[in-house]
Amino acid sequence: MCGIVGYLGKRNALEPVISGLKALEYRGYDSAGVAFFSGSDSQVIKQVGRVDELVKATAQYSKSTRRKPKIAIGHTRWATHGAPTLANAHPHYNSDKSIFVVHNGIIENFAQIRSELQALGYEFITQTDTEVIPHLLDHYVKEGMAFEEAFERTLNDLQGAYAIAAISMQSPDTIYAARLSSPLILGVGKGEYILASDPTAVMEYTKDVVYLDDYEMVVVNRNNYRIKNIKRSKSVKRPAEHLEFDLEQARLGDYPNFMLKEIHEAPQTIRSATLGRIIPSSGTVKLGGLESVVNQLKFIDRIVIVACGTSYYAGLVGEYLIEELAGIPVEVQLASEFKYRSEPFSRSTAVLAISQSGETADTLAALKKVEDYGAMRIGVVNAVGSSIARLTDAGVYCHAGPEQAVASTKAFIAQVTVLTLIALHLSNGSTKLFKPLLKELDELPKKAEAILAQADSIKKLAEKYSSYHDFLYIGRGYAYPCALEGALKLKEISYIHAEGYAAGEMKHGPLAMIDKKFATFAIAPNGNLLDKTYSNIEEIKARGGPVVAIATKGNKNIKKLANDVIYIPEAMEQTQPILVAIVLQLFSYYAAVKMGKNVDRPRNLAKSVTVE
Ligand code: AGP
Repeated sequence: MCGIVGYLGKRNALEPVISGLKALEYRGYDSAGVAFFSGSDSQVIKQVGRVDELVKATAQYSKSTRRKPKIAIGHTRWATHGAPTLANAHPHYNSDKSIFVVHNGIIENFAQIRSELQALGYEFITQTDTEVIPHLLDHYVKEGMAFEEAFERTLNDLQGAYAIAAISMQSPDTIYAARLSSPLILGVGKGEYILASDPTAVMEYTKDVVYLDDYEMVVVNRNNYRIKNIKRSKSVKRPAEHLEFDLEQARLGDYPNFMLKEIHEAPQTIRSATLGRIIPSSGTVKLGGLESVVNQLKFIDRIVIVACGTSYYAGLVGEYLIEELAGIPVEVQLASEFKYRSEPFSRSTAVLAISQSGETADTLAALKKVEDYGAMRIGVVNAVGSSIARLTDAGVYCHAGPEQAVASTKAFIAQVTVLTLIALHLSNGSTKLFKPLLKELDELPKKAEAILAQADSIKKLAEKYSSYHDFLYIGRGYAYPCALEGALKLKEISYIHAEGYAAGEMKHGPLAMIDKKFATFAIAPNGNLLDKTYSNIEEIKARGGPVVAIATKGNKNIKKLANDVIYIPEAMEQTQPILVAIVLQLFSYYAAVKMGKNVDRPRNLAKSVTVE
């Protein structure tokens, strides 16, 4: 999942392309590159590593006023095919460097195309799947096709997922682009156009964006753009949408990094997720995004939640909430597995997809799988206008604002808050917990602030435990998905081996791992299962395992059991996951900082996983 950008307009094209790549760096940071035309020359500049390296390498051109390039394409890479080397960095080009291409996605039939082109005498200089594209374009141009025709012909040869932007010396004032499964938007400015993988890359220049759909190509000229659906061979009229977006929200402000900033946005995130959705006067829940399906929802007798990573763990909390509050059976499935499972599906089953980015390929594929089943598809999505938001029949936006750190934090808080509202909505007020939960959600931002106020003491503990190489996270009931999420947070930013486990499962195996060097994070807030969790902590203590616990303020007993305790305010079991998550996020954050890790850009990961 890479990031691509293309610019055509009056500015020095390198300026918006490089600032766009910076905004998209969360999608991959193995290498970066640009290609541009200035006068009758073409240039390609690539660097291994972060976009900052590219800034240095292009300085002489981005400052040039004499021969400033007015057209350019750029790329920031997350390596899928071929190691993160200079040769494999994008843009890729044909042998006489007259055609340049950047690509996000995977060309699944590249090996076959490659050998066919090699048989025609084409030489390949990279291990990437993408390199087949400029050579295919070259081949069709040499067969006498105009570049636009060659571009469309090439798209028809490709299988897999792609967002592509291409420029050619044959038509130096045009950018050709297309999408299939990988996201692509066109920012429409005054006399300028910016193509990008997502809107954050164009916000500095315009808030008017055109979303491209699957099988669409766009030809961008100096004064206009034309969209064509290559599957139906039809031109498509699509005006730009004006996006409400607060650029300041996307900026770091006084924080050292986005992860800490986004953790500290928890109180505001809860408020934004409930704003206008809890109607205190009537004591009701109003979810505008579900109104169009409110009648069908009455006949839903099964919900399948599909998601990946942190969103999947939010889905597990959603399962507990919807089953307890609305009495509808729920199954939570990993989207990457769901796509390839064959299971019975009835029209009274709804599929609920959860995604921060709204672009995760596995979750998108899961939704596409049930397209023919006639099942209702609902989305819980943060990124406005994203592919999942546009593919689902109805949904609820999380309104958490842009999340830029790779490790998802505020999005999890928003997802669980929204799932609580959906569960209450589906309960039609039938649960006795309806009013208490509305009141609780109203008070929750304050409780979240009380936890953030403990950041320093959580920091000390995290630094103390950051020397452990192995961690087990345990919890019961609503705390079980939190254990899974806590372990993921620690893993993905500190690279410490961590496993989340249902506390009751310990004695069925994991207990064998426990010794004085294997730490345990026990999530033990007040609730029906606290005593059971105590016994699990006892089992660990009996094997000499150090334990740090999360408990509810006022719980003195736990101090006799655990080595260290982090307290959360008194809260209902149903909302405890939101408060517990903030502790887990801060703990993993400070452990990773102590270990000198890049918390916003952990190795080998990317924010939005747009390939299967
Ligand atoms: C979580 O911190 C990770 N970034 C990752 O597991 C993420 O949750 C997963 O890729 C799903 O992303 P989505 O919510 O954008 O679909």
